[in-house]
Amino acid sequence: MKIDNITLTFWNKTVLKDVDIEIKKWEFVFFIGYSGSGKTSLIRALIWDFRPMRWDIILDNNQSLYKGMTEDSLLNYRRSIWVIFQDYKLLESKKVYENVAFAMEVCGYSDAIIRKKVPEALEKVWLLIKKDKFIYELSWWEKQRVAIARALVHDPQIIIWDEPTWNLDPETAKEIMDIFLDINSDGKTVIMASHDSNIVNKLKKRVIAFQNKIVVSDTENGHYHIH
Ligand SMILES: Nc1ncnc2c1ncn2[C@@H]1O[C@H](COP(=O)(O)OP(=O)(O)OP(=O)(O)O)[C@@H](O)[C@H]1O
Ligand SMILES: [Mg+2]
Repeated sequence: MKIDNITLTFWNKTVLKDVDIEIKKWEFVFFIGYSGSGKTSLIRALIWDFRPMRWDIILDNNQSLYKGMTEDSLLNYRRSIWVIFQDYKLLESKKVYENVAFAMEVCGYSDAIIRKKVPEALEKVWLLIKKDKFIYELSWWEKQRVAIARALVHDPQIIIWDEPTWNLDPETAKEIMDIFLDINSDGKTVIMASHDSNIVNKLKKRVIAFQNKIVVSDTENGHYHIH
């Protein structure tokens, strides 16, 4: 997809100005930048949740996301991209398995597919053994992994993780890397908005830095660096 020179504004406040980024299907991309630099806003623009004030997002089939999409093609696109937001919502009083299954039920999947896909997704995030635990019994990182499993059952082409701001311990950071590298090696596009310099520096992937409303750097094999 191509983020084609977009400008994002809230009322009269500009969050991002003339941002131009092309992301290939097989890529693993980090968005870095201080809190408030516009990472979540850009992610919202990618999923048809925040209309750019100027210009547009061009999909791989050359269709503009905000201009002239039919209802069907919009639905298809929205199924192909999944965001795990910072304030992911899990159903606390339901079990792990039910939380992931519920995400499929509301999308109209058949029971047979749900019974097949949910354990597969839980296995990928090492949570199958905890499938009958309630959400409130889980640690923070286990909850995050339920949110990732909920994304995986939809088999999206693009998966985006909008990382929470607090620091991760090294063990958790390593597990996060393993999960998302695995997803990427399955051929999915991975975008991570990250505050964690350890993760960014270890993976040496493409790093796009946002500051003062613009992209200040965009480097392959990049590292975590903001002025
Ligand atoms: N709904 C909104 N209405 C008005 N302003 C908003 C809204 N959402 C975000 N903003 C503002 O837009 C700017 C960019 O916010 P955004 O959430 O995109 O930053 P971020 O880079 O994701 O930050 P963080 O690292 O803390 O998640 C901030 O100044 C924020 O206050
Ligand atoms: Mg954010």
